[in-house]
Amino acid sequence: MTDINSATVTAPARGQGEVILDLQNISLRFGGVKALTDISFNVREHEIRSIIGPNGAGKSSMLNVINGVYHPQEGRIHFRGEERRKMEPQVAAAQGIARTFQNIALFKGMSVLDNIMTGRNLKMKCNLFQHALFWGRAQKEEIEHRIKVEEVIDFLEIQGIRHTPVGRLPYGLQKRVELGRALAAEPELLLLDEPMAGMNVEEKQDMCRFILDVNDQFGTTIVLIEHDMGVVMDISDRVVVLDYGRKIGDGAPDEVKNNPDVIAAYLGTSH
Ligand SMILES: Nc1ncnc2c1ncn2[C@@H]1O[C@H](COP(=O)(O)OP(=O)(O)OP(=O)(O)O)[C@@H](O)[C@H]1O
Ligand SMILES: [Mg+2]
Repeated sequence: MTDINSATVTAPARGQGEVILDLQNISLRFGGVKALTDISFNVREHEIRSIIGPNGAGKSSMLNVINGVYHPQEGRIHFRGEERRKMEPQVAAAQGIARTFQNIALFKGMSVLDNIMTGRNLKMKCNLFQHALFWGRAQKEEIEHRIKVEEVIDFLEIQGIRHTPVGRLPYGLQKRVELGRALAAEPELLLLDEPMAGMNVEEKQDMCRFILDVNDQFGTTIVLIEHDMGVVMDISDRVVVLDYGRKIGDGAPDEVKNNPDVIAAYLGTSH
């Protein structure tokens, strides 16, 4: 997302953008556990690219590789044409990659507003010392961040809970606040790890709408992990399927749905 105010003008048509993230032959091991084996796929600008697969297939590990939490033993990663060797999470974030987590990662005692504000941390130029020395400049910066955070709050329709401590909110709203924290960073690439897990039908519909709106209005590229096949097939441009750390399918939703390996490994099993 370039600017939360900027409209659709510069965003390429969905699914037709340039490759912005390219993963080649990624293998990741934890001791004897092979979490990912020789996985290659790419992500195009402005698409919604889903990663699906049964529990333990390696989906979250893949996101952790993309944003530098895990460093694969083998393989190459290019982001916007540049090879990234040992990417650290802060560097990934500074390059425009934001994410939400499978288990909500928010400060439960802090308000919705303050939690979303933490998404701006990387964009804050003034440190505490400068706050003391250059009060005016720091104050101006603070106001700019607050405006951005208020835009995110309006966008996600959570004005009424801005001062509520996150721990007091129902699960579905906490997930929405976590999306808000990620959006506050104005990411180009947004990684969502099961943003609808544990939600009821109505909450899922809301979350789907927000994901589509982020993608549509800001041109944000999205990598989505989700177990709800209805949602995945509905909103994805392309889907990559993992099973036991290996890629077993990759393509448009219809292709993936009809892939016999995928049917056998995933769609055939109840989740
Ligand atoms: N930090 C870690 N240390 C050791 N093993 C790990 C670690 N992270 C993941 N694994 C292992 O890697 C494999 C893939 O796990 P991962 O969490 O990526 O799967 P997943 O597809 O996200 O599953 P789920 O749908 O249950 O979230 C599993 O066998 C898991 O136990
Ligand atoms: Mg996972």
